[in-house]
Amino acid sequence: MNSIVISLGGSVLISDDVDSTYFQKLTKFLKELSEQYKIYIIVGGGKTARTYINLGRKLNFNEETLDTFGIDITRVNARILTNLLNISNEKIPESTDEALEINKQLVIMGGTTPGHSTDMVGAELAEKIDAKKFIIATNVDGVYDKDPNKYSDAKQLKEISIEKLIDEYGTEWSSAGKNIVIDGPSLKILKRAKIPTYVLNGKKLEELKKVINNEDFNGTIIKI
Ligand code: UTP
Repeated sequence: MNSIVISLGGSVLISDDVDSTYFQKLTKFLKELSEQYKIYIIVGGGKTARTYINLGRKLNFNEETLDTFGIDITRVNARILTNLLNISNEKIPESTDEALEINKQLVIMGGTTPGHSTDMVGAELAEKIDAKKFIIATNVDGVYDKDPNKYSDAKQLKEISIEKLIDEYGTEWSSAGKNIVIDGPSLKILKRAKIPTYVLNGKKLEELKKVINNEDFNGTIIKI
């Protein structure tokens, strides 16, 4: 059976207004999808993770400690989904190898080790299982020419090459809580493993469905 890896940004799950209807829709969507595919979801930490990281930074904790705060929050977010879904793993795996040992159609996890974001965990997993698709579900409609949360004239890119992304973001990890579209360590893996990667708005489940069904979708294709 084909496997799909979805990196689900924490900001999609938890924003200022907690949207419980989205959780219900997502649960239904994932259950249906898991009848056809093996699905791995890596949940991010979002604003909550950044709040803890910012506090820790003000208290002069080192970067590795700040990353562990972020990881812990991603696992709490993952736990919300496992509790809701009922059909996935119960224990949150702490590494991609542990995730691969779980014999369920739906596997949910958060971060693993310091030094990267959950996107990199998704890329690592996608490489290990030779995933059919890697989808980065974030809080905007794909990759833009500049940050759409800051600039109202930012333009959505229908596609972007991995080289262009690497030119812009490099391949190294910068700092805990850094809010960028895809972190450097993920780009390195995607380039190496040539994983078909798509970026879209995780709130728009209909777009997620289109990408999975190989239809035109509102988002960005990363050309590898
Ligand atoms: P996220 O992956 O959520 O970062 O992890 P993000 O890109 O800010 O994600 P979203 O889209 O808003 O959710 C939050 C922080 O946790 C640490 C990093 O510091 C990261 O910035 N982290 C996460 C790790 O160190 N390792 C991991 O495997 C995951």
